[in-house]
Amino acid sequence: MINHSFQYLIPTKIYFGRGLLGRIGELARKHVGGNKALIVTTAGGSMKKYGYLDKVTSSLREHGYEYVVFARVSTNPTIDVVEEGVRVFGDNSCDLIIGLGGGSAIDVAKAISLAYASNTSVKDLVHGKVKPKLAVPLIAVPTTHGTGTEVDKYAVITDPEAKLKAGIVSPKAYPVLSILDPETTITLPKKLSAGTTMDAFIHSLESMVSYSSNIMTAMYASKSIETIVEYAPKLMSNLRDIESRTMLLWASMLAGIAIDLSRTGILHALEHAVSAYHPEVHHGVGLAVLLKGWVKHILPLIEEDKLNLLARALGVKPRISEVAEKILWLRKVLELELGLRDLGVSRSELKTLVDNAYKYLSVLAENTPGKPGKDIALKILEESYEP
Ligand SMILES: [Fe+2]
Repeated sequence: MINHSFQYLIPTKIYFGRGLLGRIGELARKHVGGNKALIVTTAGGSMKKYGYLDKVTSSLREHGYEYVVFARVSTNPTIDVVEEGVRVFGDNSCDLIIGLGGGSAIDVAKAISLAYASNTSVKDLVHGKVKPKLAVPLIAVPTTHGTGTEVDKYAVITDPEAKLKAGIVSPKAYPVLSILDPETTITLPKKLSAGTTMDAFIHSLESMVSYSSNIMTAMYASKSIETIVEYAPKLMSNLRDIESRTMLLWASMLAGIAIDLSRTGILHALEHAVSAYHPEVHHGVGLAVLLKGWVKHILPLIEEDKLNLLARALGVKPRISEVAEKILWLRKVLELELGLRDLGVSRSELKTLVDNAYKYLSVLAENTPGKPGKDIALKILEESYEP
């Protein structure tokens, strides 16, 4: 039976709707306060190019805010970027942080907020040696529909030396305010659109079937999976379809709440290992690759109640074969039928990747159906090697 006990507190004021980005100054005044914002955003220039950054800065100015732009974040952000952000925040006497972009930008914003306010080293935070006591007020503005970080307590940062890609987990990491404006996702290129959609799907999948799943997780994850299955094909046939973008951004937020309640599983443990060694790999694409091995080695171990729930959300009969087929269908729809080989991973690396996953994220393997050991994890990687 699905677990009926849970704890639940997501203390973030959420604004969801089209056209909200241009109201950020007003909403910040109303819900957050402060005088000078550090705007943490992506390094690629897309936020500027598509006008999102200008919308944010002009709205901030209109409401009496000063700001500094910190456009230094790329995929799989590292400790040194966070450290630099902490310096820039302090040097400019900022008192508020805005994370504008995909999960990486928001996670860097979160890590800066925690490290600065708690006056602690970023490395200690990322390695879980120090628990943050305080946070600088944070506004999250996701422009992708994948991570759900705008509603969760995680900030994923990489320590390249230790080959550690792990989440800071802290109740202080929740944004004070999250602004989800579907219009900001419309310019996301195809591959990122697919990768982030897959990330959201796997958040719902892994949290729903996990040992820490409960009736709240089930509710959020089910609706999220149902929505992704319906709208992923529509999005892939028209990337500028605002209805699909809206529904997928919503589904991603629901999936974020699901992982906040019940965490993820072995796919995230293994993907973090893959991108710790291959920082150019997009998280969602890495997950899609590993999904092939998951369907073969983990799916058959799901408890019956959870299989029923998953099948219902996917719109198929509660049989392993049908659930497997539908999951692999989504991978195809999103044009992510790739293998580890395609991500530049060599066969000789697979054991190292398993060791890395169990060194840092065994807690996620423990949360996975069947509590897979390293032997099963290796089989997942081997199965996922070829497309
Ligand atoms: Fe994820």
